Amino acid sequence: MEQEQKYLWWQSGIIYQVYPRSFQDSDGDGVGDLKGIIGRLDYLKWLGITAVWVSPIFPSPMADFGYDISDYCDIHPLFGSIDDFDELLQEVHKRDMKLILDLVPNHTSNQHPWFLESRSSRDNPKRDWYIWHNAKEDGSEPNNWLSVFGGSGWEWDEQTQQYYYHAFLKEQPDLNWRNPEVQQAMLDVMRFWLDKGVDGFRVDVMWHMIKDKNLRDNPANPDYQSHQSTYEQLIPAFSTDQPEVHDIVAKMRKVTDAYDERVLIGEIYLPVHRLVTYYGQDNNGTHLPFNFMLITMDWNARTISTNVDEYEGALPEGGWPNWVIGNHDQPRITSRIGQSQAKVAAMLLLTLRGTPTLYYGDELGMRDVPIPPDKIQDPQGLNMPDKDLSRDPARTPMQWDNSANAGFTSGEPWLPLPGNYKRVNVEVQKEDAYSMLSYYRRLITLRQQEAALNVGDYAPVITDGPLLAYIRKTERKQFLVVLNLSHKPCTLKPKHQTYKGKIIFATDPEREGEPVAGNISLYGDEGILVELA
Ligand code: GLC
Ligand code: MG
Repeated sequence: MEQEQKYLWWQSGIIYQVYPRSFQDSDGDGVGDLKGIIGRLDYLKWLGITAVWVSPIFPSPMADFGYDISDYCDIHPLFGSIDDFDELLQEVHKRDMKLILDLVPNHTSNQHPWFLESRSSRDNPKRDWYIWHNAKEDGSEPNNWLSVFGGSGWEWDEQTQQYYYHAFLKEQPDLNWRNPEVQQAMLDVMRFWLDKGVDGFRVDVMWHMIKDKNLRDNPANPDYQSHQSTYEQLIPAFSTDQPEVHDIVAKMRKVTDAYDERVLIGEIYLPVHRLVTYYGQDNNGTHLPFNFMLITMDWNARTISTNVDEYEGALPEGGWPNWVIGNHDQPRITSRIGQSQAKVAAMLLLTLRGTPTLYYGDELGMRDVPIPPDKIQDPQGLNMPDKDLSRDPARTPMQWDNSANAGFTSGEPWLPLPGNYKRVNVEVQKEDAYSMLSYYRRLITLRQQEAALNVGDYAPVITDGPLLAYIRKTERKQFLVVLNLSHKPCTLKPKHQTYKGKIIFATDPEREGEPVAGNISLYGDEGILVELA
């Protein structure tokens, strides 16, 4: 392995997202838990993962499955105890991996003591911790802001005769980040977990944290289409991505930097030129503003290569890139682009420059599981039933083996398993050299072995029809990646240069070892990695 420059663990590593409700149940209640995760750490180590991000595990009424927190410094009994957490952290570190927690600073649960106090009276000292406002003269909401989960973003409080703002559910009131006490309280939460030794945070909806001081109306979205979420009717120009957010992020970063090598990741859905501002002035912002381009872009070579190049070009000096292919809010990659393209997508994710984040189960090619209407649990799905926006299908239990409930639980799983789990599971795929899991593992291993793939430079080569080609390199080694984003065969005809080398990794392992020179033909849904001579 080449070692040229020292990179930080979150630059050279691979992050894996665990959705704790669905990873592994240990007590038979049908919901995953911390002991369950502990029992599966050897699997993640085997896979080659270097950091585990766990979605919220804190006390919560579960209106939004843990993203509505009622106590930031404890563990929900459903998931275990604080002792279980300490054990999890220890076991992760023992295996030389890192643990990243979810921090949800934009909003609390409406059952959080802060909000209970805040809503108790207009002169409560915590009144200003949330965003309260009088009704307009006609009794209507202070402005037109909408909730991401449908309907108005404002909820009327009968007792104190004011509205409060909630970007998500009414059970998730937004904190007022303009209040210094709120800032201190949340920075203290960060310190609580950092003191314990947690390696960093994925910060929930970072771009929502500060809203326009004057609460101006959001403009209408001229491109709105009726199948979209009602939230898309307006452009959230005044309720998200405000300039002041960067001061807050810088404060979070400062807290993070007071510790050794911790990481701050931001969940941000914004176009590239806005996204990169979250690296901050002189990189004093978030280390990794999540880059969701591979999730949000149309799946064709032209769009992808344009966006990759735009992203590479937009990164500030010293800003480290990252790529994400799935998460608990989005349809799974297999269901979006199909099983065979999902392999191509994995090669893209794991050969682009920047830290990759994997979503649990994608390494098996798990698909979105259809959930019968009467079994839907996700509030986003329930609140806009005609729009097919439920996130449940991508949150189903991890498929471990061919025993009952795929080895996830001995009880009744909180979401159903697909009929094919006896074939699509870790145990079966581990034994099959041609499975998605074996493919992922080999690819991860290769990436982690080769500095050029791991931390090397990126250079676009060509985008031709459905073909996408680029180079990853260090001074000593160069790899050519060629991906076919269509189902049909096609040929790469390099114009200015001949690429000579040997295929060392491919979607079809049979191609490995094959020499390459001149034109390179690919099958449909094929990707190859060529070590250049
Ligand atoms: C983030 C989370 C999502 C949650 C929302 C509100 O987008 O990823 O699951 O519903 O924030 O907290
Ligand atoms: Mg359980």
